[in-house]
Amino acid sequence: MPLTMSSEAFEIVTDPGAASPTVATDRPVRAGALDMLGVSSSYLAATGFDASVGSTAVLATTTSAGEQSLPIAVGLGDTELSEADVRKAAAAVWRAASKVASLTSALAVSAADDLGADVAFAAVVEGMLLASYRFTEQKGEPGDADPLDRIVLAAPDGTDAAAAAARASAIAGGIALARDLVNRPAGALTATDLAAAAVDAIGSAATDADPDVGAATVEVWDRERLAAEGCGGLLGVNAGSTEPPALVRMRWQPAGTPRAVIHLVGKGITFDTGGLNLKSFEGMEWMKIDMGGAAAVIGAMSAIARLAPDVAVVGTCCCTDNQPGPTATKPGDVLRIRNGKTVEVLNTDAEGRLVLADGLSLAVEDEPDLVVDLATLTGACMVALGDRYAGLMGNDPAAIERALDAARAAGENLWHLPLPPEYRKQLDSDVADLRNIGKGRYGGTLTAGLFLAEFVGETPWVHLDIAGPVRTDADEGELSRGATGFGVRTLVELVCGW
Ligand code: BES
Ligand code: MN
Ligand code: ZN
Repeated sequence: MPLTMSSEAFEIVTDPGAASPTVATDRPVRAGALDMLGVSSSYLAATGFDASVGSTAVLATTTSAGEQSLPIAVGLGDTELSEADVRKAAAAVWRAASKVASLTSALAVSAADDLGADVAFAAVVEGMLLASYRFTEQKGEPGDADPLDRIVLAAPDGTDAAAAAARASAIAGGIALARDLVNRPAGALTATDLAAAAVDAIGSAATDADPDVGAATVEVWDRERLAAEGCGGLLGVNAGSTEPPALVRMRWQPAGTPRAVIHLVGKGITFDTGGLNLKSFEGMEWMKIDMGGAAAVIGAMSAIARLAPDVAVVGTCCCTDNQPGPTATKPGDVLRIRNGKTVEVLNTDAEGRLVLADGLSLAVEDEPDLVVDLATLTGACMVALGDRYAGLMGNDPAAIERALDAARAAGENLWHLPLPPEYRKQLDSDVADLRNIGKGRYGGTLTAGLFLAEFVGETPWVHLDIAGPVRTDADEGELSRGATGFGVRTLVELVCGW
């Protein structure tokens, strides 16, 4: 079993000597810490250990009492430690410790002087919780239990370890929730299920919330309500499906006057077949991940409701699958979006922007300080940036700066792409206000961004195309194979750091 998010997963001791040691080393290797274990730095170097961030070596020592122990040396690099570095190192300790079934470990975070003990401690908890994440709910057999089910952490004196651990598990819990939703196959996650998961997550955060601090609420719009509200984009994408659509609105309202109002909007396509413009075999293989934007918004909202910032936040997820049924929207059909604009659908596989058009129209009606949307929107973004970077576009330099800063602090890779006015005419339609695809073969990420810009007006807005980093093929650092939960941490940082 992976570590649970409950506080029982971690025992926190304030005397570092109480736990059997894991050595955290700077480069050059700290001789003092090694002497204590009876290990020489030349031995450590001979194991190939280079002390880079997250490198590990398992050592074998005998304590003065004659007990065998397997301390783990973990590298912390030779430059100033960031929060992301500490998470990565802690994740590496967890991976190494789970292989040798070392039951108790302590990671010395005293090297993270610049971060402050509380932040470094929270990063350790988060790194370990995230590294221990596994998606097992579809396994027929429960599989082997992890050898580690409890970790003892030695917090430096004066650390508010309980508060740091609570903060860490709110964020790691939000990320794990987003990963679960993205990993869950489309056959087990309809739009209705996705909405229900949001209701569950916000409902449980609401029960925990102190009414003097704020309130978390959630509302779901069904097909009839969507029709009454004029959400023709989401209804048009849903037209070919036997599953009903759902639009979820989650709110965090602090008790006092909020410092800002932020809207988050997520693309929640539970499966993207392409619709009548059916995808190829290769193109469809991973399309259960096409609700990754919505999952990030739900995960972030669940964390935000627990962290209780004095910023008001509304999360909107536009949920449906995209199917080629006999009643599906056909190329050439025209849809009317919530804000009154009409769209000629020339490719039913450019569906994400149609559902987001309704979500963004709704978001700007509140005149928030910032709107952020997240979407696995274009394969072209992966062509441009690969699978480790999300593309960022926006209509407001200050909003773009804030998003880039939040992502940097969160350790998530965002790259700023342009919204070139020269390309806007590619979206001109002869029959409606807009076409849903550009006219040429190139710049598909940018024309998608320009399309979305038509639905936000003057409201400061940034769009994150997360098609690449929504999933990974390798266990690395705090990421486990499969869904990454990308975006949750940046959103939390953006809101809580406002
Ligand atoms: N969900 C896809 C984008 C996608 C592709 C996400 C690969 C993750 C991995 C999106 O709905 C889509 O199909 N986009 C089209 C747009 C095109 C029809 C203009 C694409 O990228 O090919
Ligand atoms: Mn598509
Ligand atoms: Zn899609």
